[in-house]
Amino acid sequence: MQLNEIYAPIQKDLVAVEDGLKSVGIVESPWLNDLLGYALKGGGKRLRPALAILSACFYDYNLERLLPMAMAVELMHLATLVHDDTIDNSSVRWGRPTVNKVWGMEKAVLLGDYLFAKAGDLAVSTEDMRVIKLLLQPLMLITNGELAQAASAFKLEQSREHYFFRISCKTAALFVFATESGAVLSKTPEKSTQILRGYGHYLGIAFQIIDDILDFIGTEEEMGKPVGSDLAQGIVTLPALMLMERYPQDNPVKKLFQGGDKKENIKRATEMVCNSTITQECFDVASDYRTKACQNLKNLPAKEARAVLTNLADFIVSRWR
Ligand code: IPE
Ligand code: IPE
Ligand code: MG
Ligand code: MG
Repeated sequence: MQLNEIYAPIQKDLVAVEDGLKSVGIVESPWLNDLLGYALKGGGKRLRPALAILSACFYDYNLERLLPMAMAVELMHLATLVHDDTIDNSSVRWGRPTVNKVWGMEKAVLLGDYLFAKAGDLAVSTEDMRVIKLLLQPLMLITNGELAQAASAFKLEQSREHYFFRISCKTAALFVFATESGAVLSKTPEKSTQILRGYGHYLGIAFQIIDDILDFIGTEEEMGKPVGSDLAQGIVTLPALMLMERYPQDNPVKKLFQGGDKKENIKRATEMVCNSTITQECFDVASDYRTKACQNLKNLPAKEARAVLTNLADFIVSRWR
């Protein structure tokens, strides 16, 4: 299933989110206008607002109440991407130059800050203390996750435990914010809220594993962003971890981290991942997380959103961008 088919039942609400985001870009500041406009129409999948909307469909759905938060989660996501690209000195996202590439690092940092603050401002407008707290949590976790990632870069000692900790912080935390706050803002009973929270967490993990596989087997054209970039930055993701575990001797990742030729070792590592069962094994791990994400959805009210959440999870583990 394509994403637009999956989104069909909530299409109208997603258009409202899109309109809301557009209005965030209209500010009385010539400096901000260009930057904001550029960041807001990048062409992302809008997964997180979709998750927030779907999670709000089981009880007292109210788009007006939900909208600021659905916008906030996307703004938060965009802010992390603007900062992530700046930290990584990355030049392409959504198939076009990054903010840091067009305007430079300083402006990219400031734009990211503005987007974070705007997300906070929108969360405050919900006047729901739990939602406000829920928004701040991922911000702290993402920072911690990115720092943990930087600290482990180019290190020979790596573990799955540390990998899952990092991706839980840097990616799953925002998925959790989307699903849990959607549930809270639609007056969902606590038991169901926890089901949706769990869904967000496990789906976020599956999502990042797939992103990490695609960094090995995807192309820049498909992804709209550079591939092979994780290893180039010394970041060990699940495919690289499996490669290190499987071939303790004569391992291109280890050679790279010990100062060996960058291009040659990344090329060899990529070939070894692509030409072994590692890719499939990583997909299997992601697929297990997809199953974990969906297994309790059956305990939610039998609404259309339940099937849509399952479809979205299926899309995520079979996606190419
Ligand atoms: C990219 O997320 C950042 C990761 C967590 C891997 P998305 O793939 O959801 O970003 P969009 O769709 O380009 O906004
Ligand atoms: C994304 O991680 C998580 C963030 C905090 C932005 P990645 O570094 O894998 O995201 P991409 O691959 O650049 O989109
Ligand atoms: Mg990155
Ligand atoms: Mg990535």
